[in-house]
Amino acid sequence: MLRMYDIIAKKRDGGTLTQEEICFFVKGYTEGTVPDYQASALLMAIYLNGMTAQETAQLTAAMAHSGDMVDLSAISGVKADKHSTGGVGDKTTLVVAPIVAACDVKMAKMSGRGLGHTGGTLDKIEAIPGCTVSLTPQQFFRQVNEIGLAVIGQTGNLAPADKKLYALRDVTATVSCVPLIASSIMSKKLASGSDCILLDVKTGNGAFMKTLEASIELAKAMVEIGEHNGRHTAALITDMDMPLGHLVGNSLEVQEAAETLMGKGPQDLLLVCKALATNILVLADKGSAEQCEVMVDKALASGAALEKLCLMVQAQGGDAGYIRAPHTLPRAKYERQVLCETEGYLCAMNTEKIGISAVLLGAGRETKESVIDPAAGLRIEKKTGEKVVPGDVLAVLYAEDKAKFSAAEAEYRSALTFGAEAPAPIPLVYALVEKDKVTRLSYQIPPNGQI
Ligand code: URA
Repeated sequence: MLRMYDIIAKKRDGGTLTQEEICFFVKGYTEGTVPDYQASALLMAIYLNGMTAQETAQLTAAMAHSGDMVDLSAISGVKADKHSTGGVGDKTTLVVAPIVAACDVKMAKMSGRGLGHTGGTLDKIEAIPGCTVSLTPQQFFRQVNEIGLAVIGQTGNLAPADKKLYALRDVTATVSCVPLIASSIMSKKLASGSDCILLDVKTGNGAFMKTLEASIELAKAMVEIGEHNGRHTAALITDMDMPLGHLVGNSLEVQEAAETLMGKGPQDLLLVCKALATNILVLADKGSAEQCEVMVDKALASGAALEKLCLMVQAQGGDAGYIRAPHTLPRAKYERQVLCETEGYLCAMNTEKIGISAVLLGAGRETKESVIDPAAGLRIEKKTGEKVVPGDVLAVLYAEDKAKFSAAEAEYRSALTFGAEAPAPIPLVYALVEKDKVTRLSYQIPPNGQI
C-alpha cells in the first residue's frame, strides 16, 4: 500500500517517483486525504532535489486530469493557444489573438487575472465597458466557430490540483522551481484542449525567471511536456528587463493594443507580437516562418486583425467603438507627471517595481479582495537607453484618487537607474525553443525604426 510518508522520504533522498506515487499524491491532495503538511514536505523535497523529465510529465498529466479536460472538438479547424509567463505592459494576447484569427487559425483562449506585479488579460478585457469574460461553453464554442476567437476566464473545474498546489507553494517558498512551474502552467494548457501551444517565456528583472539560462530551462521543460502529450508546442524567450510598450494598466493597455493593430503602436510591442503570431502560425502548419510572417503583415496592413478584435469585443458584450477610437476608453480623473532631475541616460528600469507602481495606482490587486480601477496606470515616456535632461517627463501616472500618487511616484523613481554612458541595447526576443532545438535570436528594433 502506498503511504505519503514513504513518497516524501524517497524524494528527500533523491529518488525518482513512479507514476503511481505521483498520481497517489495529486489525487490525495486534491481530494483532501493528503494534508497540507505532507504536501508541503513533498513540494520542498521536489524543490531541493528536482524531478526527471518523465516525473515532470507525469505530474503535469496527473494535475491536468484532476478536473475537467476541455473538449474543443465542437470547434472546427486547428485550435491554438498562447501563454505568457507574466510581465508588465504585456498586452500581447490582445494583439496576437486577432492576428492569428485573421489568418484562419482559431484562438479558443482561457486567460488569467493579474498576479502580483504582473497584469492579466481578463482584467484588461473587462476594462472595455460592457465586455465580459464569462461565456458558457456553448457560447464560447459558437463564438470561436463564427469569428475565430474568444478570450474568456477558466471554465468550470480546470486543473483543481494546480489551484490548491499553487496556493500552497505561494506560502511555502516553493514557487520558483522549474518542474513545479512547468507542471503548473502546462497542466492548465493541456486541460484547455488546444492543438498548438506557443509559450511566451519572459526573462529579466520583471519576470519569474531572471536569467536567460533559467528561462530557457523552463521553456525546454514546458515544450517537452506539451510535445509528450501530443500538442505542437514551442516557446519564445522574450524580454522583461523593461515594460513592453509605453502603457501599463488595464484600459491603457487595451488602448495600446488597438493602436498597435492600427499600425500606430510602439515598435517593441509590434515586434514581439509579430514574432509570437508568426510562430503560432508555424505551429499550426500554415507554412514556413517566412510565409507566416507575410501572412501576419497582411493581417495587420489590411485591417483584418483589427476587425477581429472589434468582432470579439462585440460578441462578448462590449462596444467595438472603443476599439476603433481607443482614446474614448475610460480615463482616470487625475494625472501626475514624474519629472527627471538628472542629466544622462536612463540605464536600467526595474520592471517589477514599475509593475508595483501601477498596482499602487489601482491597476492591480494588493489583496485578493481588492477591486481593480480599470482606468488607473501609467504612461512611460522614457525607456532604457534614452537620453534625459532635467525637466523631461519620465512618466505620467493616472489614478482616480490623488492620494495614490506619492507612493506610486516614489516606487516609480526607485525603479530607475541613470548613468553617464548609454547602456547596450536590450534584445526583445532572445531564443526560440522547439522540440529538441534551441535557436538563439537577437531581435531588436532596427536603427531606422521600421519593423
Ligand atoms: N504561473 C502559473 O500558472 N504557475 C506557476 O507556477 C507560475 C506561474
